[in-house]
Parts: sequence; C-alpha cells; structure tokens
Amino acid sequence: MAAAGKTFAYKLPDEFAVFGFHRDLLAWYDQAKRDLPWRSNRDPYRVWVSEIMLQQTRVETVKPYFENFIAKFPTVEALADAAEEEVLKAWEGLGYYSRARNLHRAAREVKASYGGRVPDTLEDISRLAGIGPYTAGAILSIAYDKPEPAVDGNVMRVFARLLLLEDDIGKPKARNKISELVRQAMPQERAGDFNQALMELGATICLPRSPHCLTCPVFDYCLARKEGVQELLPVKGKPAQPRPVELVVAVIRRGDRWLINKRPAQGLLAGLWEFPMFEQEHRLVDAEWLAAQTEARLGLTVAVEEELPPVQHTFSHIAWHLRVFRCDWLAGEPTAETARFVSSEEWGKYAFPVAHSRILAHLAQSGLFPAVHA
Ligand code: ADE
Repeated sequence: MAAAGKTFAYKLPDEFAVFGFHRDLLAWYDQAKRDLPWRSNRDPYRVWVSEIMLQQTRVETVKPYFENFIAKFPTVEALADAAEEEVLKAWEGLGYYSRARNLHRAAREVKASYGGRVPDTLEDISRLAGIGPYTAGAILSIAYDKPEPAVDGNVMRVFARLLLLEDDIGKPKARNKISELVRQAMPQERAGDFNQALMELGATICLPRSPHCLTCPVFDYCLARKEGVQELLPVKGKPAQPRPVELVVAVIRRGDRWLINKRPAQGLLAGLWEFPMFEQEHRLVDAEWLAAQTEARLGLTVAVEEELPPVQHTFSHIAWHLRVFRCDWLAGEPTAETARFVSSEEWGKYAFPVAHSRILAHLAQSGLFPAVHA
C-alpha cells in the first residue's frame, strides 16, 4: 500500500493489504472499463477538461460535449486564446456555467505562468480557478500517476459501503475521512487507474439503488454487504429544496429580429444570453402589466400578442417557473447596453440557458423562428 508507515486518524482494515484490494480492483478494471473518449490518452489538458465536465454531469451527456470541445480547443493555448463567448457556446446545455468560465480563466493562467503545461504538483494545480481537491487528485493521478485520491460522489458511496461508514457524506468531514482511507488503499503505481476503477465501480456495479453485489470484484471486502445494509448506505442528509422563483419572459420580435439580453457577469448563468425576464412580484400577470414592465425596464413599447407554453427549469438551489409571452415591438430602442435585437442567422453565436433554448424550440415549432437556426 502506498501509505504504509504513516499514521492515520482513520485506519483501513488489514484485510485490504493482506488480500490485495487494489490488485483485485485493478484486475477487474482492466477487463471491464468502458471505452470513453477521454481515456484514449493521458494528455493532462484532456483529463482536466473531462473531469470538469463530469462534475455533476452524466458520462453519456458529457461524451459529445467533450469531443466537440476538444475539436474546437485542442490545447491549453487554444482555449486560453478563445473568446469567452465561444467557450460558453461550446458549453451551452451542459449547465453549471461557472465551470466553463473557471476553466477558461485557468487555461489563461496555465498559458501565462506555466508555459501551457498543466502543473503537476498539488500546490500549483490547486491554485487554478475551479480546481478543488477532487479535480486536483483526478488530474494528478490520471495524467501524472501521482498517488492522490480523487473522491467524488461515486467513490464516497463505494467506500461508505466497503467500510460500513455511517457518516453523512454531505459533510466535508466525511469526504476528508474517505479521502484518507482511499489514500491508504491506493497503490504507488497506477493511481490514476485505481481512482478511475473506484469511479467505474460506483457507476456500473455499486449503484445507488440495487447494487450488483453478486458481480462486484471487491465483494469479499465489503462490510455493508456482510451486514446486508448496502442499500441503506451512504447516509446523506436531505438537501434543501430548490426555492421557487416565478418569472415572466418577454419574447419581443422586431421584424425578423428578436430581443436578447446578456446576464450579469456574476451569479447564476453569468454571461449567458436570454430573452428578457421579469420577476413576478404579484399574482396578477397580464398584458398590461408586461407592457408596463418592458416600457419601464427596457425602454420599449410592445404589443403583447400571445402566451406561449410555460417552461420550468430546476437548478441545485432554485426552481424557475417561467411564463412566456410573445410580443411585437412597436417603438423605442433598448436602454440597456447588454440588450440587442438579433436575427435568426446570428443566433448561433450566442449561448443560452437550457430554459431559453426550450422557449426558442416552441417558437420554431410554431413556425415563428426558422428551425434550422433554433
Ligand atoms: N466521473 C468522473 N471522472 C470520471 C472518469 N475519469 N471516468 C469515468 N467517470 C468519471
């Protein structure tokens, strides 16, 4: 074991070393691992991009985004030299856009301070925007084979079961504890494969519900299985319910152009474009109210034409409920510098939140917007 000789607050059972836990796990990984696009080589930049994309996002969703992103920005330098708008466009639909902005910022830092080479020490890599302990461990182990743990939700579930840990895995203390235990379990060599094998086990065998214990390569080590409590673990405190936010969207057409507005540089969906939205302060939303809003907030006189289907979108902490109205521009120029009318041909240059792409899809379905550009 890599960490033999050190003292730890939490100790791995001796059986792990005695029976060769990492050998059993790696032997399974070698024959069972999925063929994923980011596994075709160990280029640190590719590993980095993939690990950022895979945070909170399923493998199947990430695959096409990863291929497209790498084709567009094949190196750290290419990403560093790109405009933010282009990077957000390549991320459009993947969610958690601060990941893209941080990745972009960090690529500029890697180009400026490290000559374009992704740092290979915990200290340097952890200073980059968007790189926390998980991503640092993943890049250092997968790209550079350094024995650093990479503890994500899958790994926490696997270890909570293997060692029958009843800690609330939503708490930082549990993550630190599991990280320490993973460090003791990992081999000196093939640390990247070891970390990926744990993730793979969590993704394909040690599933949240109905784990496939009978085909598990480390079944013999699993204390939760011995007690028959694998489905009760891990313990996870209830996350807060997303707060509902009622918004009214004005989809304003002026000839063959539509009004869009850039969101602020900070906060939710920062820097993305959207149809203008107004928070619904009171219950009565009607054409008169909306026309008064567009006049007061956008400097535009509009005729409210029809209500389009509502759109809902839930983020980790808030739930958007959007009521959507199609309007025709009558007079005025947008007062905000961030607002502009764009034609359907120009649409592809702008990145939109998923909820607003859905509004556009409704417009396209009704023949109001050319489907080829939607
Ligand atoms: N989830 C996070 N990182 C991963 C990786 N490298 N392979 C598969 N799933 C992952």
